[in-house]
Formats: sequence, structure tokens, C-alpha cells
Amino acid sequence: MKLKEEDYRFIKNELNEYLNHPEVQKMKGYVAHGRKTLYSHCLSVVITAYKINRQFKLNANEHTLLVGALLHDLYLYDWHDHPLNWNIFKMHGFTHPEAARKNAERIFNVDEDIQNVIKSHMWPLTLRSYPKSKEAAIVCLADKLVATRETLRR
Ligand SMILES: [Fe+2]
Ligand SMILES: [Fe+2]
Repeated sequence: MKLKEEDYRFIKNELNEYLNHPEVQKMKGYVAHGRKTLYSHCLSVVITAYKINRQFKLNANEHTLLVGALLHDLYLYDWHDHPLNWNIFKMHGFTHPEAARKNAERIFNVDEDIQNVIKSHMWPLTLRSYPKSKEAAIVCLADKLVATRETLRR
């Protein structure tokens, strides 16, 4: 599915308040998978989640979907530099969704639906934080698709 200019305009408009916020911009300073910054990773998840929803006519709430996708990795630390390096990848996988949720709540006061999208995006790794909505399930899937693509392309 190829997005049209009006799709990009719609997405930009939904994310207006967030995209240029300094805390979101900070994600440009962190590496995600391969050579991608966390910021560009999150934008890819936004686009992929949007496409999945439109293409399969899932009728998700697009504001919740897009904001949740943009903020899903707003944990704001570099896990590559963590002193507990030997185990941090594993730990990071379990703990960063909650760190990102807390930041999104503190900085933007996002509602519970968006918080669930963020908190459950690593499911099934985080067993008890499971996707409770269509929006959360779509972002969970979109993140895995994007992360796989980024890892394979490095
Ligand atoms: Fe993540
Ligand atoms: Fe992610």
C-alpha cells in the first residue's frame, strides 16, 4: 500500500503536538536497530501501523494508534551504554515499555488507551502487559515488522 500526500498530511496533523517536541526530538540521539535512530524507527512504526489499519480496514482509533506508535519507545536512555551490558538487552526488552509509558504520561499526559499501546508493545515478552485494544495489537505487530526489517538491513 502506497501512501498519498493526503495520508501524510493527516498523519502529520494527528501528531502535530508531538513531532517537534524536544523530548520526542531527543530520540534522534539514540540508536535503535542497525543504524537507524530511535526517532526514525518510531516514524516507521507510525507509518506501518497506519497502513495495517487502513489496508485491513480494522477501524482503529487513528489518534490513539498514531500517538501510541510515535511514543512507544520514548524511554529516553541508551541501552547500548548501559553498565549491565551483559544482560541489558534482555532486561531492556522487558523494562523499556514501562519506562516509555511513564515518560509519555509525564510529558504529554496521554490517556489510558495510549498508555496501553505503549506498555504492551513488547508482548508476549512482557506477559502481563498484553494489548487490550485493536490499536495496541496493531502497534505491537508493526513494531515487530519494522524491527525485523531494520535488523536484516543493517
Ligand atoms: Fe520497544
Ligand atoms: Fe520499537
